Amino acid sequence: MYSKIIGTGSYLPAKVLTNYDLEKIVDTTHDWIFSRSGIAERHVAAEGELTSDLALQASLRAMEMAGVKVEDIDLIIVATTTPDQVFPSTACILQDKLGVRQGTAFDMQAVCGGFVFALNTADLYIRGGQARTALVVGAEALTRLLDWTDRSTCVLFGDGAGAVILQASETPGILGAKLHADGRHRGMLEADARIANGKIEGTPFMFMDGQAVFKFAVKVLAEVVDELLADLKLQYSDIDWLVPHQANIRIIEATARKLGLSMDKVVLTVGQHGNTSAASIPLALDTAARAGQIKPGQKVLLEAVGGGFVWGAVLLNW
Ligand code: UT7
Repeated sequence: MYSKIIGTGSYLPAKVLTNYDLEKIVDTTHDWIFSRSGIAERHVAAEGELTSDLALQASLRAMEMAGVKVEDIDLIIVATTTPDQVFPSTACILQDKLGVRQGTAFDMQAVCGGFVFALNTADLYIRGGQARTALVVGAEALTRLLDWTDRSTCVLFGDGAGAVILQASETPGILGAKLHADGRHRGMLEADARIANGKIEGTPFMFMDGQAVFKFAVKVLAEVVDELLADLKLQYSDIDWLVPHQANIRIIEATARKLGLSMDKVVLTVGQHGNTSAASIPLALDTAARAGQIKPGQKVLLEAVGGGFVWGAVLLNW
């Protein structure tokens, strides 16, 4: 038994914040942001619009493409770093909003790596016979963790959601996955706030050592792809599409160069979405799927790195 993606969906909040808008609130320029990151604009969730609301819209679109009904879904995993509330999980809230009444639901917390971790977990559930039809979502209202006076972070991130339906299949969809974590690097990217005794302790805003993250990302992304391909006995030339975590175009270009892939084989949404953390890969995948770019039978490589630090890659047959 294998698992295969049979539908994708995504959702972006209505409000668009351009680099020119940011010039008015913080000491930055469009040229700096665009040349350093490739980002031109990002979407920002409306007041009261929660991660589960974004996830709901993306999920409904993925279910529609897959031709799957609420009665069919027996596993929901939501990858998010910005849950609606402390508990219950955003996955349980999404389950309720969708009207799914069977199976199980839980969140996956692996920051920007969340979607590849969630997809790998859903694949293991299906191959182990514990689920048949999984809804796997990456959803973030990440701008709520931004200090809009900190130009080193506030220009880089955005909100959105992407979802896939992963279903049991007799032919291979997910071909393999390789995931890593190394908590020693957790201070490079974090929001260290804690809720205790009715108060927030620590900082409820994101901190990032951008240069350190950049160097770490370029190194580990190349390594993990090598590991995964060696496991699967495949070559760089077997990859038809790269759908990377959309954090910075320069990190993506460095990875593509390492894999010998021309940039027209790389799905790019960072310019319009910014870094949407766990939502970025399923958002990019849905964008490419709906544009008809990825063809049946092609091999698609997903890769991501994020706070923790965590990193990983998944290779799949479309
Ligand atoms: O999802 C995973 C997590 N995130 C990432 O993958 C992000 C990884 N890092 C990056 O993408 C890049 O490091 C950044 C885009 C964050 C920064 O690019 P950089 O080329 O590493 O710039 P830098 O941090 O070295 O800053 C260069 C200069 C500094 O000024 P000085 O010291 O050279 O005078 C900064 O103060 O740019 C300044 N700067 C800015 N200037 C205008 C920093 N942020 C801004 C800004 N606008 N928004």
